[in-house]
Amino acid sequence: MRNIFHYIISVLILTLVAEPRPYYWRDYYGALPSDAIGFDGIYIAQVLYKDGLLPGSLYPYKKQAVIECCGGKWNRTEQIKVLCDTDNTFFWEETTTNDLQGSYLTDLVVGGYEEKSELYIGKIFHEGEWQISKVFPPLSKWRGFRGWWINGSLYGSEVFHILKYRNKTNCIQLYN
Ligand SMILES: *[C@@H]1O[C@H](CO)[C@@H](O)[C@H](O)[C@H]1NC(C)=O
Ligand SMILES: *[C@@H]1O[C@H](CO)[C@@H](O)[C@H](O)[C@H]1NC(C)=O
Ligand SMILES: *[C@@H]1O[C@H](CO)[C@@H](O)[C@H](O)[C@H]1NC(C)=O
Repeated sequence: MRNIFHYIISVLILTLVAEPRPYYWRDYYGALPSDAIGFDGIYIAQVLYKDGLLPGSLYPYKKQAVIECCGGKWNRTEQIKVLCDTDNTFFWEETTTNDLQGSYLTDLVVGGYEEKSELYIGKIFHEGEWQISKVFPPLSKWRGFRGWWINGSLYGSEVFHILKYRNKTNCIQLYN
């Protein structure tokens, strides 16, 4: 009996080790999931808007996500997901638009799409605060980080931090 018990435990442990570790894009309805990842009161949002799925900034204290769309800043309170993870799956790395090619792309987190282009997730410190927004690849019509000025106008930059996987082979993206 004890041997069978040990066997079952061993199989369970092996399965857990071999299983890819999940991270989640969870629905945000005004309450921040306990495993949402962020810093300085800002979290990583994904917003379905017009023809795109756009990475942006979630500000839980305002219950509002902000994205760059159509040439400027847009706030949203609906159709928001927030990136959640407990395994230290991601890290930010300083980079430039021209670095986004070849094998460097492998470890980038794809945060959405717009105008037939994949979007990566960038952050930038601008006008005294961090913002998280979309990053277009170098060959798209729009290049690099696209965020906003506080006054609502489009702000672009070719120098930014980008969200990367520590080890992509090890993890799996789930929606719930
Ligand atoms: C959010 O954006 C709308 C326009 O889409 C604007 O009317 C409203 O004032 C904004 N709200 C906040 C809190 O920024
Ligand atoms: C917003 O601020 C930026 C930087 O000062 C400026 O370039 C832009 O013209 C401003 N936009 C509006 C609509 O005032
Ligand atoms: C990434 O994860 C895979 C699967 O768990 C593992 O085999 C590999 O050694 C890891 N790579 C690194 C660089 O840690």
